[in-house]
Amino acid sequence: MEDIRKEMRDLRRDFSYGTLDVKDVPKNPFDLLRTWLDDAVKLEIKDANAFVLSTAINNIPDARVVLIRDITDKAIHFYTNYGSKKASELEVNPNAAVNVFWADMDRQIRMQVEVKKLDKKLSDDYFKTRPRKSQIGAWASIQSSALESRQKLEDRIEELEKRFEGQEVPRPEFWGGYELVPSYFEFWQGRPSRLHDRIIYEGSVREWNTKRLYP
Ligand SMILES: Cc1cc2nc3c(=O)[nH]c(=O)nc-3n(C[C@H](O)[C@H](O)[C@H](O)COP(=O)(O)O)c2cc1C
Repeated sequence: MEDIRKEMRDLRRDFSYGTLDVKDVPKNPFDLLRTWLDDAVKLEIKDANAFVLSTAINNIPDARVVLIRDITDKAIHFYTNYGSKKASELEVNPNAAVNVFWADMDRQIRMQVEVKKLDKKLSDDYFKTRPRKSQIGAWASIQSSALESRQKLEDRIEELEKRFEGQEVPRPEFWGGYELVPSYFEFWQGRPSRLHDRIIYEGSVREWNTKRLYP
């Protein structure tokens, strides 16, 4: 235990992957988001499209990792169970925070977003592209509810495989997408000696203003 405490104190590295300047960033933060995601995919970073989604209700915050499945000119999309804890929290408070971190590129993106359910047609289209086992999994999981045993989940999967045998698995009504519409972005590029570059964008799709922040 003492070892890990010492190791935490001594664990440090310098960041030197790149730089970021107001004069070089695009006017539209979605362009920079796409570029950084593309860089992460090209570098074959594991789960390059993963981000932490933070929600809060009654002053109690919570956070979990989900995956970006699409980017439009005003939003990012992810998919989940509409009965899950995050979904019930978003129902009460649609204001959320996003954090994407790529250690291999010394980069972090923070966003403040408003979350809305996606159009059913988009959820249907995306659901069709999922592997069959994931489609069955979506039906089987009562996400975030107590599960008495692993066996119970496996029994549910078996039942559902029989139910949908020889046919396409339809999207369950309780599963679908959300769009996250940002009004604030921060792009963070790690620099040596903790003198990092931080560029923020404030505004909306119509107009974005950029500023640099102290590290
Ligand atoms: C790399 C990674 C990717 C994940 N992607 C998703 C996702 O896209 N959708 C999802 O519902 N859960 C995803 N999860 C699981 C969530 O982190 C979380 O456990 C689950 O959604 C239940 O969260 P909730 O109880 O707050 O609703 C992912 C977890 C990890 C570690």
